[in-house]
Amino acid sequence: MVSSTKSKSHPGRRPLVVGNWKMNGTRASSVALLAALRAEEPFGSEVSVCCPYPYLADVVLSLQGSGISWGAQDCSHLDPGAHTGDVAAVMLTEFGCRYVIVGHSERRVHHAESDQRVADKARMALAHGLTPIVCVGETLDERVAMLTESIVKRQLSAVVHTLGHCVSQIVVAYEPIWAIGSGLTATPEQAQAVHSVLRAQLAAASTLAGEMRLLYGGSVTAANAHALFAQPDIDGGLVGGASLKANEFSAICRAATGAALESPGKLKT
Ligand code: PGA
Repeated sequence: MVSSTKSKSHPGRRPLVVGNWKMNGTRASSVALLAALRAEEPFGSEVSVCCPYPYLADVVLSLQGSGISWGAQDCSHLDPGAHTGDVAAVMLTEFGCRYVIVGHSERRVHHAESDQRVADKARMALAHGLTPIVCVGETLDERVAMLTESIVKRQLSAVVHTLGHCVSQIVVAYEPIWAIGSGLTATPEQAQAVHSVLRAQLAAASTLAGEMRLLYGGSVTAANAHALFAQPDIDGGLVGGASLKANEFSAICRAATGAALESPGKLKT
C-alpha cells in the first residue's frame, strides 16, 4: 500500500490541470481562448489543453513559447496505415503534443472502446513519447450497486498488464461518469477514496506509484477545485466544460497550485 498521508515525499507530483475541450469551439474561439489563457500565466501548476485534432496547428502557434502544453483527446492503437478516420500517435508528435487522453468514457461508450483497446492506445502513445492520460470511472448505476472499486480496478488492470512497469509513465484520471458534464461533482472524500484505491493498485505494479499523478475529472469548477485538489491522492484535474472559459480555467489551475502549496510534497520541479 502506498501512503496516502499529506507528508508525501514524492517530488514527481507537480499538480497538473488539463483542459479537455471535447468537440467544442471554432478555430477563432480556440485562438481567442488561448490568448486569454496566456495572459493569465504563470499558474504554478502544470497546465495543458487537449484540443480537437483540426485545431492542433493553431494551438501550436498560439502556445509555443508559453508554459502551457497541449495534446489530443484520443489516438489510434494502430500504426499508420489503412485506417480511415483514425489518427496515429506518431502524427500527434509532429505537432509537439505532450499528452493524449485515452479511454475517456465518451469514447468507451460511444465508440465501444474496450479496456484492452484503451490499454493498447496507452501503449502506442508511450511508444511515441506521448504521455497518455488514461480515464477510468463508473456509471451511477454501478456506484449505487457498490461496484465503483471493482469497475475502476478492472479498467486500470488492463493498462497495468499491458504496460508492465512502464505504467508509472502514465497519468490516470478518475472521472465518475455520473459527474461528467452533469454539475454533480464527486465529493472530495468520494474522489479521494477512489484515488487511494487506484494508487494502491498502481503500487502493486510499480515502485514509482507514489510519484504518479492521479487527476480527478467531472464537473470541476473554480468553486470546488480547491477542496478536491487538497485531497492527498488528487494531483490535479481533467476539466471539460470549465476549460472553455479562460477565467474559470485559470482559477482552477491556481486552485491546484494553492492546494499543493498547503501540501509541499506536491509542488516540485
Ligand atoms: P466536465 O468534463 O468537466 O465538463 O464534467 C470532464 C471530462 O469529461 O473530462
